[in-house]
Amino acid sequence: MCGIVGYNGNRLVVPILVQSLKKLEYRGYDSAGLAVFNEKKKIEIKKSSGRISALEEKVKEIKYGNCGIGHTRWATHGEPTEVNAHPHFSDDKSVAVVHNGIIENFSELKTKLEKNGYKFYSQTDTEVLTKLIHYYWKKYGKPMDALARIQLRAIGSYAICVMFNTEPDVLYCVKKDNPMVIGINGKESFVASDASAIAQYTNCVYYLDNHEMARVRKGEIEFYTIDQEPIKKQIKVLDITNQNSDKGDYAHYMLKEIYEQPTIQKQLINEYTKNNSVNFSKLGIEFSEYSEIEEIHIIGCGSAYHVGLCAKPVIESVAKIKTQVHIASEFRYQAPIVSKNSLVIAISQSGETADTIACVEYAKENGLKTLGVVNCIGSTMTQKVDKCIYTNAGQEIAVATTKAYTAQLLIMYLFTIMLAKGKGTITAQTEKNELIELSQISQKMKIELENVEQLKHFASLKYNQKEVFFLGRGIDYASGEEGSLKLKEISYIHSECFAAGEMKHGTISLVQPDTLIIGITTQKNTTAKTLGNLIEVKSRGACVVCISDVIDEQIKKASNYIILIPKTNEKYSPLLSVIPMQLLAYYIALNKGEDIDKPRNLAKSVTVE
Ligand code: G6P
Repeated sequence: MCGIVGYNGNRLVVPILVQSLKKLEYRGYDSAGLAVFNEKKKIEIKKSSGRISALEEKVKEIKYGNCGIGHTRWATHGEPTEVNAHPHFSDDKSVAVVHNGIIENFSELKTKLEKNGYKFYSQTDTEVLTKLIHYYWKKYGKPMDALARIQLRAIGSYAICVMFNTEPDVLYCVKKDNPMVIGINGKESFVASDASAIAQYTNCVYYLDNHEMARVRKGEIEFYTIDQEPIKKQIKVLDITNQNSDKGDYAHYMLKEIYEQPTIQKQLINEYTKNNSVNFSKLGIEFSEYSEIEEIHIIGCGSAYHVGLCAKPVIESVAKIKTQVHIASEFRYQAPIVSKNSLVIAISQSGETADTIACVEYAKENGLKTLGVVNCIGSTMTQKVDKCIYTNAGQEIAVATTKAYTAQLLIMYLFTIMLAKGKGTITAQTEKNELIELSQISQKMKIELENVEQLKHFASLKYNQKEVFFLGRGIDYASGEEGSLKLKEISYIHSECFAAGEMKHGTISLVQPDTLIIGITTQKNTTAKTLGNLIEVKSRGACVVCISDVIDEQIKKASNYIILIPKTNEKYSPLLSVIPMQLLAYYIALNKGEDIDKPRNLAKSVTVE
């Protein structure tokens, strides 16, 4: 979703802004722009719809300026046109603004400003915010007055970076419910909505908190409260400078990230186990903290929610703790009944998903314990939760998550084992056995990734499919949800996953000759039932693919194609059944010629509701 960058130093600003914006490309966007102070100390703005490369072309001749701001926009208010792109300008070109977030009362503010003679050219809430800043600046005299004042009037979420033409070597920042990071390196200052954008220049950063304001000079940053009282903030040193963001020999980041999974699984086992036991002590996480927990509520969006669906039956059967899984955007508005002794586990790759963060805040307001399972180091969520387990999957660039998903799954299984051992629902010997099983996943994933010819061939036959249904029961159903999401995200084929037993209650009416059905059968107690459902659709002409850890006569009878996956303890099967589904989605999208790493309309980091 939208990204902000800013630079104030002694180097040429444009290349730095463009390089920083490129680091944010993976988040998803549809237009980009930047503003710089030119040689006459005037603000100059360049924007373009489409990719950053188009903007780069437009700004390549700018060989002046040492201070500026940049933005990638993911359209919310108005189409992804040049006029709607950021930065936005006041009419007299004295104020330029980039903004992430949504101003909910922008219509009301627009009416107020129109009454005061302001004109509007775009459809965006950001233009309203820009003119509101201008209005208060002219009224009260100082940039900080304006930034303090808008916080009293603007309802919604925002991270903004502002240039005022009266101060050609200063940037101003303020935020509420959207991340904003300010980095420093010697005589240079950097601004970003995501530390990864500026990690190439510095790993020393400050995180702005809600309603804090910053005045950013070259290598010198001052922080203020909304009452303009100075505050001292702690600098954080991030360990993200060495993230490998190179595609290597892979055609797409998604493929590279799929192939990184065995290594990540292995590293996570090494990182979080010791002497045949789960060990999160380096993160300050011990069982004693959770010994009183009676309920677990897992919160997430998209794939993170699917991780919760896979983890729930494992937590309930192994650690014997009642567990509910919630879609974050639903949980936050349902005033859910949650018992006092609940643990809220928020799962998020980015650590910036607005809905999931809001649930963490809700949990904290209600005195509940919170645990984050997060990939992005230093992200907003890592700072809000009581404790955080990092998934350490490295930077994930493809919008469709793969390696972070399987890393989250593994962490959830390890955490479950820790709880179960602490509660005494499993013995030390069982813990050891479970960890042996999990430590073999890496090798089994490798085997899957070395045998992709069948999947490639199948994708070349079926890429023209109009719709695909996934069927499974229990854990297989949860895993199918992720397979279905992967396919629709990148191939744009309509796809849904159904609990196999529900199929006869409606979905079967959609089955026609050649409808593609993907069944997942890894669970002993439900496989026969699911195969029965697959036979029903096959006999109505559907083409059935079965993802299974065995091949027998029953499976052969129920399917046209069988994708054999390695065996593991069946509760951990999502770690292995998802691999062919990721690859299938990838190769189908490849055959269709889609933009795999940056699928249309999607954002990697969904920072607005
Ligand atoms: C977006 C991404 C998904 C991701 C979801 C949750 O929709 O495209 O891949 O699963 O957000 O993101 P999070 O960063 O919270 O895991």
